[in-house]
This record gives sequence, structure tokens and C-alpha cells, in this order.
Amino acid sequence: MGAHAALLQDARRAIRGVVSFEALEKARVEFLGRNGRIAGAMKKIGGLGEAQRRAAGVALNAVKTSIEKAFETKQKELIASQNTQLAKDEAVDVTQPGLRPAGQPATRIGHFHPITHVMRDLERVFTSMGFMVLDGPELESDYYNFEALNIPPDHPARDIQDTFYINGHPDWVMRTHTSPVQIRAMQRYGAPLRAVALGRVFRHEATDASHEHTFHQIEGLVVGEGISLAHLKGTLLLMLKEILGSQVQIRLRPSYFPFVEPGVEIDVSCTICGGAGCRACKQNGWMELLGAGMVHPRVLEAGGVDAKRYTGFAFGTGIERLTMLRYGIEDIRHFHESELRFIEQF
Ligand code: FA5
Repeated sequence: MGAHAALLQDARRAIRGVVSFEALEKARVEFLGRNGRIAGAMKKIGGLGEAQRRAAGVALNAVKTSIEKAFETKQKELIASQNTQLAKDEAVDVTQPGLRPAGQPATRIGHFHPITHVMRDLERVFTSMGFMVLDGPELESDYYNFEALNIPPDHPARDIQDTFYINGHPDWVMRTHTSPVQIRAMQRYGAPLRAVALGRVFRHEATDASHEHTFHQIEGLVVGEGISLAHLKGTLLLMLKEILGSQVQIRLRPSYFPFVEPGVEIDVSCTICGGAGCRACKQNGWMELLGAGMVHPRVLEAGGVDAKRYTGFAFGTGIERLTMLRYGIEDIRHFHESELRFIEQF
């Protein structure tokens, strides 16, 4: 092997064995440095005759270029493995609680809002009974929010659920209840069907201890052959026992909603005052919690369901009211106040 080939082989072997930037630099100085082995070989060919010198120069330059390339490749390898190591060392577990900023009191770890606790429990109870959990838009069409639910434009029931309209879009409303999801669910999944939909609803109304302009409802819909009011009562009683405890008492009152026939309202004995009367239950010992009934045949038809074959029940429950009863909260307005002394109790 010629001297140049041996030089290249030595350099490659040295570079291959390198595992750090320091060792790489040392090897670079040894081969490519001002007093390194390439420079030494260059000096040696200086003493050769003209023709030999040129040939040796070309060969040595080729060796030098190969060695330089080998260094570059090694350097890239080292950078890549360093990055991988850095990524490993600096990996952040984003699920860990944050670090406390200097001077702050003990770290505060976030937690769910009481409404979220109740919503999650409701989802658990209903999925355990085979219900699907559905979603619907908060900005709804007038058709789904009212008309398909058997509430035509001039119907007085619109006054009870006065809402926010959108400038320039007379056909859009902020949904006043979760009932439009009944229609959407039937159109999408047909019958038989078991579904709940939880979400925010909006009403243009003055607030008091039990009324908000923005609150949450859970809608329930069951459609099938032979579904009756008894199924409705059994399902709701089970839900209320799960959420409020087995001592819960309910009463059904006949009521009117254009999208059910017959319709009922269900009150729950007020757990805040134990039935003695308080401002949350308007001093009567019972809190109105939900509206329900047998789905009106026109609503089944709007959903594309054969009303001769199927019957169904539906209900719409105020989740804030349920949460008030569960935790003994006497004023619904606490939920939106962002008052830490309130929120940190849950
Ligand atoms: C409805 O919204 C009907 N969609 C319920 C329904 C569904 C009936 C399916 C039949 C079949 P209502 O307006 O009564 O009905 O409201 C239902 C529940 O939402 C009430 O019982 C109450 O718990 C809650 N709710 C109503 N208005 C408010 C308000 N302003 N603030 C807080 N909760 C409210």
C-alpha cells in the first residue's frame, strides 16, 4: 500500500473510533492541522521532480478531500446523536403540575368546575344505560330550535324561551334548549335510538337565584317500539338517585311543551333547605328541575321517524339546578362569578 493510501486508511480508522467533539478535533489536528500528517506529506513531495510532484500532489489532494469528507460526516453524526440526547434529557412531562413562580404561596393544582363534575357523572350514568352522548351547535337555526319542535313562528311558546338573535341573520338563534339535538339525532341515527346531549343554552332573561341567561342542559331522547311514560319515570329516577343520592324525592306535574304530548315537569325536593323553603326553591320546598314528556308525533316525523310504529320519551334537565341540589348551592349566579372562594370548595 502506498504512503497516501495508508494515510487515508489511518485517518478513516481514527475518525471511526471518535465518540466526542474533543476527540474529533484532536484527530482533525493530527491529520489536517498545520503540522499534521497531510501537511507533512505535502512537504515530502516538495523534494520530488516536476512530473512526479504533480502526480503525487493530485493524489494527496484527493486523499485530503476524502479525509475532510469523513470528518464532516462524523461531525454530522455527533450533532445528530447530541440532539437526540438533548431531546431525551430535556423531555417535558406536560401532565406534571407547573412549577411555582418565585414568591408565590404553595402550588395550586387546577380541578374541574362543579358543573363539569356533574356533566361527567351524567355521561357515565347514561352511557351505562346504553345511551349515546351527542353534541349539537350552540348557534342553531330557527328551524331546529323551534319549528321542527312544533313551535311555529307565531306560537306563544316562543315568548317563554326568548333568546338572542344574530344581527343580519334572522334565521339563526343562540339555542334556548338542547331539544334541537332530538331532531338532529333522529335524522342522523333513525329509530330505535337512545341518546343524551349535554351543552350550553341561552335565554334572554333577567337573572335571579335560580335563573341564568346562560346555563347548561342535558337532553335525553329514547325512541323505540312500546316506549312509555313509565320508562321515562324509571330512567329519570335512576339518574337522580345516582346524582343526588338514593333519598331523593321527586314529583311530576302535568305541563305543556309543544314538542311532547303528554308533557310533565319534574320537581325535586329542595336539598338546600331540606324542604323548609329558601330563595333557591322560591320558598316552596321543591325545585323545578326538568321538563319531559312523550315525543310529539310531529316531532318524530320532523326527525324522519315513523310515528305509527315508534313512540319515544324526551327530557331536558337544567344542569346548574342539578348541581345546586347536589352541593347545596343557594344561588345559581355563583357559577359564573369566577370567585375563587366559591370555586375552590369543589
Ligand atoms: C325546556 O327547555 C325543554 N326543552 C325541556 C324539555 C325537553 C321538555 C324535552 C320536554 C321534552 P324548560 O324551559 O322548562 O324546558 O327548561 C328545562 C329545565 O332547564 C328547567 O327545568 C330548569 O332546570 C332549567 N332552566 C330553565 N331556564 C333556566 C334558567 N334561566 N336558568 C337555569 N336553569 C334553567
